[in-house]
Amino acid sequence: MNNQPPQQSDKPCCQHPRRTFLTRLSIGLSAVIGLVITMPVIGYVLAPIFKKPKEKWRAVGKLEDFKVGGFVLVQYEDPSPVAWAGVTATAGAWLRRVSETEFIAFSINCRHLGCPVRWVDDPKLFMCPCHGGVYYEDGTVAAGPPPEPLQKITVRVRNGQVEVQTIPTPLTLTTLT
Ligand code: FES
Repeated sequence: MNNQPPQQSDKPCCQHPRRTFLTRLSIGLSAVIGLVITMPVIGYVLAPIFKKPKEKWRAVGKLEDFKVGGFVLVQYEDPSPVAWAGVTATAGAWLRRVSETEFIAFSINCRHLGCPVRWVDDPKLFMCPCHGGVYYEDGTVAAGPPPEPLQKITVRVRNGQVEVQTIPTPLTLTTLT
């Protein structure tokens, strides 16, 4: 005859199935509530990355302020400023009045890794301070690692104001290794 008491399983799940179910239910509900609360915040933070910024015209000065000659640095608000952009909301271009009616402009960002290039009037070259990239006055590469010419920016004159068409900051074409 067997006098031993009936054996209970040692697994906690089988000892308290209701408690286990409620624990899992509460973890699941907490996860759902956490997602519902954080998704709008994550969406707000990440949305500017996926939204293509619209190109806009930005006034950079009066027509009479620009003399025919070398390049001058102009600054304007980036086409996709976000609330937390800070100083990066300001973009720049090298603008040159070629004749009474004609302007050309280039983005200041080097096509190697994006450092701001600087115009040197003599010998009429754009120099990049980071890795020695050099560009001619037409924006083409003269020396150094940049793989492409400087990004051109469209310029127009409206109501006596010189305006540049904003572009997203050019991404580097260089493969980082
Ligand atoms: S960032 Fe201009 S040469 Fe490297």
